[in-house]
Amino acid sequence: MSSPLLTGMVGSTRLGDALDVAVFFEKDTSTLSYVVYDSQSMDAVIVDPVLDYDPAGCVVAEKTVRLLCDFIQEKKLNLRMILETHAHADHLSAAQVLKRQFPAAMVTIGNRIREVQKLFSGIYGIESWFTADGHQFDRLVADGERFRVGAMEFQAMQTPGHTPACSTWVLNGCAAFTGDSMFIPDSGTGRCDFPGGSARDLYDSIAKKIYQLPDEMRLFVGHDYQPGGRPLRWETTVAEAKASNIQLKADTTREQYIEFRTARDKTLSAPRLLHPSVQVNINGGQIPPADEQGRCFFKMPLTFS
Ligand SMILES: [Fe+2]
Repeated sequence: MSSPLLTGMVGSTRLGDALDVAVFFEKDTSTLSYVVYDSQSMDAVIVDPVLDYDPAGCVVAEKTVRLLCDFIQEKKLNLRMILETHAHADHLSAAQVLKRQFPAAMVTIGNRIREVQKLFSGIYGIESWFTADGHQFDRLVADGERFRVGAMEFQAMQTPGHTPACSTWVLNGCAAFTGDSMFIPDSGTGRCDFPGGSARDLYDSIAKKIYQLPDEMRLFVGHDYQPGGRPLRWETTVAEAKASNIQLKADTTREQYIEFRTARDKTLSAPRLLHPSVQVNINGGQIPPADEQGRCFFKMPLTFS
């Protein structure tokens, strides 16, 4: 694995006989996105695509998602689904840009997104136009639900804690996309201090769900921050995580984890793109609606210390 300096495709790997995974990295938010495709049917699923946002100039840009679109077109893939692991708080989702170009693609997320929508529509005071019923997505998936896309069979494993609506998407019983529930072992686990987050829930999601998957299960993570400047990594296994995740190993107790996670989260500052990200991502990746003059705005709720 190399250490990329630029946003773009950083690797690829094969799952089973016919499935390929192309790995894309967005350097400003250290986000990993995946194109999973079946090289026989040419059906494809994209996990966690990124829409660029420059907070200084308030500029939305499609440079990163264009790389995904180009890949889909070059390989002549049929994009059937855009899978979100959760409503991200550190980058905007490019789901709707992809859907504009590939209208058959279903924007899919865990059905607990409604709870996150309810929570944040109150925080942003957007209840007049925003309905917290999940209709902004094409498909809401319940815990344990299975669905098929070409040769790919996914199973939803809801893994709340980082947010209430986090899902780990298990593919063909051999790989899982964890989003921010779990990272590469030297980076630990996702923070739990966003509204609705819970260290107790994340412990249970990891210890009682992810760590119950087969040891050889390949785990593809949502971010890699390259601690100590090490080369980029995007993949671990259940066995490696259980043995060496620096925050939650197989023998870590719930109390130990909650104590650690709560203390660590107090030291973290808010993500740079928090408010724009959440307002787009609870809305299925759509920018808040324009006013009668075509202007779009984000809201920034103030706190006073
Ligand atoms: Fe996240």
